[in-house]
Amino acid sequence: MLSKTLFERMYKSTSIVVLTGAGVSAESGIPTFRGPDGLWKNHKPEELASPSGFAKDSALVWEWYNWRRDVIRKAKPNLAHYALVDMESRIEEFTLITQNVDNLHFEAGSQNVHELHGNIFNVKCTSCGFKADNYAVSNNAPKCPDCGNLLRPDVVWFGEELNPAVLAKAQEASATCELFFIIGTSALVHPAASFPSIAKANGCFLVEINTEDTPLTPQANEVIRGKASEWLPKITILYDKITGKS
Ligand code: OAD
Repeated sequence: MLSKTLFERMYKSTSIVVLTGAGVSAESGIPTFRGPDGLWKNHKPEELASPSGFAKDSALVWEWYNWRRDVIRKAKPNLAHYALVDMESRIEEFTLITQNVDNLHFEAGSQNVHELHGNIFNVKCTSCGFKADNYAVSNNAPKCPDCGNLLRPDVVWFGEELNPAVLAKAQEASATCELFFIIGTSALVHPAASFPSIAKANGCFLVEINTEDTPLTPQANEVIRGKASEWLPKITILYDKITGKS
């Protein structure tokens, strides 16, 4: 299932980009958005992770975020996260772009991580400029300590712009890398899902690791059908054997 070409590409590549989605954290016990456990109380993610959802029922949205914060707080990085730390230490230019807001790549030890959709433990005020990282929330209507208005999670919701600096970094890394791994994402949410196409247009080799087909599968040069936590460690171990690097 793992081709010789993949390892030749890895050996020759000085720049690798990895795009991760919720599938990478699935085996840490964090439900994916569109998998069998994806619906929370029958709500689609778009109904909750959106300005219109928050305007309609902010307490419901906070209830969902507080539940996810609890699940994530108890979760630990899995072998997929750690294999990406190993990969980073062996590659000259390594960029990890994640759609995940769970902090697990940082917790595992990855360094050059760009959180496209923000971080679930950060908050900002809906009214003044207050922002705080790693902020404790104890109810479904948390108030800003500066102005008393409602706080919201400092994550990117559907219909909102990504942080321009993070977006620029992701686009630039995608346009210049030699090898691109798309891991555990349904590739339905843009702009994240468009980065592999930017890479491919510049001659990059695309590898997809996913338990299922996605809209990007036809573009991939290599498709690895299975769990990220099983295949990523195999890739790094074989890479070390072939290259003698470790
Ligand atoms: P999704 O839930 O849409 O997709 C998860 C993907 O992971 C699916 O393609 C699964 O087949 C795959 N998968 C599941 N378990 C896996 C495993 N163990 N190994 C490998 N693959 C596995 O999650 P995302 O693509 O991350 O945005 O969703 C993108 C964005 O939509 C999220 O960042 C979030 C969401 O709504 C916002 O909230 C703005």
